Amino acid sequence: MSKNDIVSVISEYTRLSPKGGRLWGLCPFHSERTASFSVSPDKQLFHCFSCKAGGTVTNFIMQAENLSYSDAVRFLAQRVGMEMPDEVNDEKLRMEKALRDRLYDANKAAAKFYCKQLLSDAGARAREYLLGRGIDGKTAVRFGLGYSPAEWDALFAHLSEQGFTREELIKAGLCVAGRKDEGKTFDFFRDRLMFPIINDRGSVLGFGGRTLEKGGEPKYINTGDTPVYNKRHNVYAINMMKGKKLDELIMCEGYMDVISLHQHGVDNAVASLGTALTARQAKLIGRFASRAVYAYDGDSAGQKAMLRGVDILSENSVEPRVMVIPGGLDPDEFIRKYGREAFLALKDSTITAVQFKLNYIEKETGLDTADGRQNYATRACELLSRLAPVERDRYVKVVSERSGIGADIIREQCGIAAASPHEEEHRLSGAVYKRQHEFDNRIKTEVLLAACLLFSRAARTQIKQLSDYSERLFTDSGLIELVRALDRADASGGETELRVLVSELGENSSEAVGSAAARSEEIDEPLETAAECIRALLLDAGEARMLALSERIKLETDPAARSELLKEQMELLGEIRKLKSR
Ligand code: UTP
Ligand code: MN
Repeated sequence: MSKNDIVSVISEYTRLSPKGGRLWGLCPFHSERTASFSVSPDKQLFHCFSCKAGGTVTNFIMQAENLSYSDAVRFLAQRVGMEMPDEVNDEKLRMEKALRDRLYDANKAAAKFYCKQLLSDAGARAREYLLGRGIDGKTAVRFGLGYSPAEWDALFAHLSEQGFTREELIKAGLCVAGRKDEGKTFDFFRDRLMFPIINDRGSVLGFGGRTLEKGGEPKYINTGDTPVYNKRHNVYAINMMKGKKLDELIMCEGYMDVISLHQHGVDNAVASLGTALTARQAKLIGRFASRAVYAYDGDSAGQKAMLRGVDILSENSVEPRVMVIPGGLDPDEFIRKYGREAFLALKDSTITAVQFKLNYIEKETGLDTADGRQNYATRACELLSRLAPVERDRYVKVVSERSGIGADIIREQCGIAAASPHEEEHRLSGAVYKRQHEFDNRIKTEVLLAACLLFSRAARTQIKQLSDYSERLFTDSGLIELVRALDRADASGGETELRVLVSELGENSSEAVGSAAARSEEIDEPLETAAECIRALLLDAGEARMLALSERIKLETDPAARSELLKEQMELLGEIRKLKSR
C-alpha cells in the first residue's frame, strides 16, 4: 500500500469507518452530524453525498489545504518524505504549468490592451459611463479597469501579433470559436467595461465585462472556468488587500460595489461575484482578516446567499457579521446617495449571524398573529438550541421580547429542541429525533438527484427502471412535481427546458426545485451521481422503515403478529444489506 493511500491521507482529517465496501465519515468540507462522506479504497476516490465534494487524493488535499494542483502534489510528496518529482522531469506537470504561465501572460496582455482602449477615442463612452457612476480616473487605474472595443476580433488580432496562439486565447476564455464557422475566432468580450480579476499574487486570472447599455442583457459576462480561473476559488479585489493590516473585510456581491466603496475611501471591500460563498473563498478571506461583514443586496437572493454564507464563514474560522442596508440598496447605491459617514455608521451597527437569522425567521412568519408569533418562537428556539449556553441566553431574551412569550418558556423550548442526540439514540423516541437531523441531508440528496434528472435524459431513463420512483425517492412535494413533469415532458417528446417546466409547475415549485435547477449545471457525471443518490435515498427509506418496524415489534404482544413482523424485518434487513454492499 502506498503511503499516500487515500484512506491513510483522509484519515488524518476525519474518522472513517467501514460500511458496505466503502469507508464513511463526517465530511471535512461542511458541517454535518451524520456521515455522508465516503471513501472508496478500491477506486482511490472520495465523494460527499451532501456537499458533492469528490475526487482523488490530490483533489482532496487541494480542497482541505487550499492548495493548487501542483502544490497539493508537493504536499503529498513531502508527506511521505519523498522529494517532489522534479517538475522538469514530470512531463504532465511541466506542461500544465507552462500552459498556465502562458494563460497568465495572455490575460495580462489583454488587461493592458483593454486599459489602453479605455483611454483611447474608442473608450470615450466607457469613460463617460464610469464618470457617470462617480468613479474617477485614479480609481479606474487602481483597479486596472478597461474597455473591450465593439469589434469582432480586436483583441484576437492584437494578441496574435504578440505571439499568442488561437488555442491559448480560447483556453484563457478571451476568445471563442465561431458557432456557425468553427474556424472563425471572436473576442469573448466586446463593447464592455472591463474588470480584471486578479489573485493575491498579482496574476490576472480572468475578467468581468459590463454592458454600457442601460438595461443591456446580460448585464455582466465573466470568464468561465479556465486552467487558471475558477470563480468558486477566488474573491474579487483580494489583490488589493495585500499588505494591509485588516480587522475585517467587507463582502459585497458585485464589482461596482467594491470599486465604489474604494472610491469613497472604504478600502477593505471585496466581492464574491454573485456566487454562493464556498469554503475555499472563506479560507482565502480568513488569510486576510478574522472577521467578514456581509454587505449584500437586500433582495431575497442576497438574503438567502447570506443565510448560507454566514455558516460557511464560521465553519472556516471567520467571524461573520451582517450589514443591513436600508431601502433595498446595494453598497454602491447607498454610499453614493448617503456618503461615506453614513456607510461607516452602518458598518458599526452590523448584526451577528444569529440575529440575522432571527430577523429572517421573523420576516417569514410575521409577528402580527398568534400563529405567527408561535411559529417564530418555535423556529427561533430550534436555532438557539444549537448555540452554546452563554450565547443562547443572550438571544433567549430577544426571542422572548419579539414573540411576547416568557423567557422561561423559551428556555424550556430550547432545551427540548436541544436534547442531546447522544443519550437519545438509545431510546426509541431518540431514534426519531435523530432522523430529524438526517432530514436535511436527505433533502440535499433529493435536490442533487433532481438536478441530475433535469440535466440528463440518460439519468431519467435509468431511474425509470425503478417503479414508483417519484414517491419512493422524493419527500419534497415540489421535487415530486418536478420529476413528474419531466416524465410527462419526455413521454410527449415535449420541451424539457427548465423555464417551461418551472412556469408549468407554478405555485407548487418549492425552494428545493430552485436549488435543483441551480445545481444542474455543475454536475459532471449525472449518471453516476444519480445512481449514488438513488442508493442513498433507498437506504435512507429502508432504515426509516426499519426503525418503525422495531418500534412496532417492541410494542406487539400477540406472538403470531410478532413473528410476522420479525419476518418482515428479516426481509428488510436483506434489502438494506444488498443496498449497502452495492
Ligand atoms: P447585480 O445585478 O447586483 O449588479 O449583480 P451590480 O453589482 O449592482 O451591478 P451594477 O451596479 O448594476 O453595475 C451582482 C454581481 O453578480 C454578477 C456580477 O459579478 C455582479 O457584480 N452578475 C450579475 C453577473 O455575473 N452577471 C449578470 O448578468 C448580473
Ligand atoms: Mn449596483
